[in-house]
Amino acid sequence: MQPEKSSRRIVVLLIFLHFLFSQVSSLDTLKQGDNLNSSSQLVSAKRIFTLGFHTPENTNNSYLAIWYTVGSRGPVWIGNREKPVPNNMNPELTLSTRGQLIITQSGGESFELYAAESNKNQSLSATLLDTGNFVLSSNGEILWQSFDHPTDTLLPGMKLGVNHRTRRNWKLSSWAGERNPVSGAFTLEWDPSVRNLIVKRRGMVYWTSGELEDYYIERGNLRVKQFENFPREVDIFNLM
Ligand SMILES: *[C@@H]1O[C@H](CO)[C@@H](O)[C@H](O)[C@H]1NC(C)=O
Ligand SMILES: *[C@@H]1O[C@H](CO)[C@@H](O)[C@H](O)[C@H]1NC(C)=O
Ligand SMILES: *[C@@H]1O[C@H](CO)[C@@H](O)[C@H](O)[C@H]1NC(C)=O
Repeated sequence: MQPEKSSRRIVVLLIFLHFLFSQVSSLDTLKQGDNLNSSSQLVSAKRIFTLGFHTPENTNNSYLAIWYTVGSRGPVWIGNREKPVPNNMNPELTLSTRGQLIITQSGGESFELYAAESNKNQSLSATLLDTGNFVLSSNGEILWQSFDHPTDTLLPGMKLGVNHRTRRNWKLSSWAGERNPVSGAFTLEWDPSVRNLIVKRRGMVYWTSGELEDYYIERGNLRVKQFENFPREVDIFNLM
């Protein structure tokens, strides 16, 4: 009886250690001087999103990407869609002590996501949030965030349109192919002058959402705002 009991204790201990270490290894933040390589990842606090290097099937290209931890929906964000790193070049994401957030490769050029003003002594950290936003901040001030650089996926909390602070136009653009995240033919953007969502194909208008209008759903007794050309009763988008 005794050996059985102690082996059961060992099993319990191993399970406990497994959970302890899986907690420890699921970090959500890079501090200055930290890096991620192709076998390490950040996982958001509630484990909803993961950030790491992603290689599309049957390619040798590495991309810094964010994806849902559970399921196989593929990346929702790519950091270097125009600049893949060959797998055998040891891609790494680094938050340097000089305040740069960069993707490096052995023997090649590095790709800069953000560079702090060099004369400032800031203490920077980069955290993957449960919203899917990867945020670089210094003492609570956001300096750079992945939500400002959308790829092809709009997540709740992201915006389309003109960012009045940076004058950048937030828009989505499709992947060029199933395994090639470089910007493809289609974009989705918000045109504030006509208050329409517009899909363009190679820069030409392909589809517009129409005007935002009040729409009354009889079944649910609801009044919602919907675009004219969105399918009714199929998907209800409640826009604010
Ligand atoms: C990634 O970094 C970890 C920790 O430094 C190391 O153990 C591992 O071998 C590295 N993996 C690669 C592919 O370089
Ligand atoms: C990827 O690299 C490996 C090893 O160098 C090579 O055998 C393979 O053909 C490459 N695959 C593609 C799709 O280029
Ligand atoms: C930068 O600030 C940290 C604390 O915030 C301090 O320890 C460090 O000495 C400072 N470095 C420089 C170069 O001023």
